[in-house]
Amino acid sequence: MAIQTIPTQPFAGQRPGTSGLRKKVTVFTQPYYLENFVQALLDVLNASGADGQTLQGETLVLGGDGRFYNRTAVQVILKLAAANGVACVLLGRGGILSTPAASAVIRHRQAFGGIVLSASHNPGGAEGDFGIKYNAGNGGPANEALTEAVYARTQLVRELRISDASDIDIDRLGLQQLEQMQVEVIDPVADYAAVMRKLFDFEMLRGMFRRGFSLRVDAMNAVGGPYARAILEDELGAPAGTVVNAEPLEDFGGLHPDPNPVNADNLIAHMQRPDAPDFGAAMDGDADRNMVVGRNFVVAPSDSLALMTAYARLIPGYQDGLRGVARSMPTSAAVDRVAKAMGLPCFETPTGWKFFGNLLDAGRVSLCGEESYGTGSSHVREKDGLWAILFWLSLQGATGRSVETLVREHWRVYGRNYYTRHDYEGIAVDTANTLMADLRAALPALPGHCFGYRRVVLADDFSYADPVDGSVSGQQGIRLVFDDGARVIFRLSGTGTEGATLRLYLERYEADVTKQDQPVQQALTELAAVAEQVAGIRARTGMAGPTVAT
Ligand code: G1P
Ligand code: ZN
Repeated sequence: MAIQTIPTQPFAGQRPGTSGLRKKVTVFTQPYYLENFVQALLDVLNASGADGQTLQGETLVLGGDGRFYNRTAVQVILKLAAANGVACVLLGRGGILSTPAASAVIRHRQAFGGIVLSASHNPGGAEGDFGIKYNAGNGGPANEALTEAVYARTQLVRELRISDASDIDIDRLGLQQLEQMQVEVIDPVADYAAVMRKLFDFEMLRGMFRRGFSLRVDAMNAVGGPYARAILEDELGAPAGTVVNAEPLEDFGGLHPDPNPVNADNLIAHMQRPDAPDFGAAMDGDADRNMVVGRNFVVAPSDSLALMTAYARLIPGYQDGLRGVARSMPTSAAVDRVAKAMGLPCFETPTGWKFFGNLLDAGRVSLCGEESYGTGSSHVREKDGLWAILFWLSLQGATGRSVETLVREHWRVYGRNYYTRHDYEGIAVDTANTLMADLRAALPALPGHCFGYRRVVLADDFSYADPVDGSVSGQQGIRLVFDDGARVIFRLSGTGTEGATLRLYLERYEADVTKQDQPVQQALTELAAVAEQVAGIRARTGMAGPTVAT
């Protein structure tokens, strides 16, 4: 066993996107590609930061969503960590840790930080995607300053420091030694489950299942399965089989573990059957996303955040009330209305969970959410799929109302924010960049301009000044806001691995209860036409419409 120094060359393009570095498996498996990135990360963590802390002698958490290359990557990272001064790695058994569980472990064990191997909802398998992200000591995604520093370092790395020790047994719980470093293989569920027990009334939830409440959770052959089984079936007494597709598979069994009505169509079909369960839910690859579904009724993520805010006091973990709430800019303003009514501060951040971290750390918000099927709270520093499922389960238990009744009642009180996201995937990068540049150039002329009966009151490229540390993030999405509150937003995805993905977000508000039951796409046709008129997406891309509309 010895520590080796191996020469390497920088790879272009190792800049982390919205949520870590994501590339095709075929890119990640090039010799030294993963090593290069991890060495850069360790170098940055070893260079003393503003707080004077370095990684030397510290503990890191490590795990991933179980996708193809996870097990191999874990061994590589352990050997790099051992050669770069890390004292201890807490590794999820089998290399498994969901994103929210990794966050929980980092916080509970007061680790220096953690490395999560996941490409989230992107497809897996040898032909699919792989990803790696770093979470800091607060359990949350690295901020932009850190990810940029890592990227800069990837361009300079010339040497890898790595142990030549043989692989450790990642399936055996307990302590093992790698050079001077300890590897503690931990139960991936335990710390996370402890957090859930503190937030929710498990006795009440047990009672619901005893009385026959039926639930179907589709883990989509991804990492959420073991967590959902352990908590819902083993601990809360939901019948065996409540969690389906519960075994994490390297290729997700061919499923696309993105919990929306398009990719989780099997769950949607189940919820439309005459014998549908009371409640349905799905999670994504790394179990931080959630979709919640009632009988024949899908809950929009933006509405989910609004309802959670309205009903938070019914949940033991939030019974003292919320500090405030935050949503990403493209997320609908449904939660804003609730926050206003409740006198709660409400923040609008750029897309990506990392922007919620400071607000949560500073105690300024308790709940956060994104339109992309992500909701979470101050219990960890990531969005959390199973937490959201337990939250909605608890709401049904505490109110005795169904998902559909809860949402319709909410619309009646607060009005409905019709909302959709249209994704145009696989556009040529140049076309996408030109489209955004042209839109940006057109912005100054738009305020005051009318589209039908709507007048543009704001047209800008969203810029966010973090209220906690003052850092400014510009060019976070082009938005047109109309006099009736309707919004049209354009942004380019920062998580895709093929070409560019244009996201078009459409929202309009409907207070009239008699008009709250239209099909979403129909309710937003006019706004979609405005977006087309402004951006000319079809003409520019040659696409007849979005590849996915959720
Ligand atoms: C997408 C979502 C964003 C989410 C991120 C990670 O990023 O839009 O809300 O935080 O995935 O799950 P995008 O591809 O739009 O950059
Ligand atoms: Zn995810």
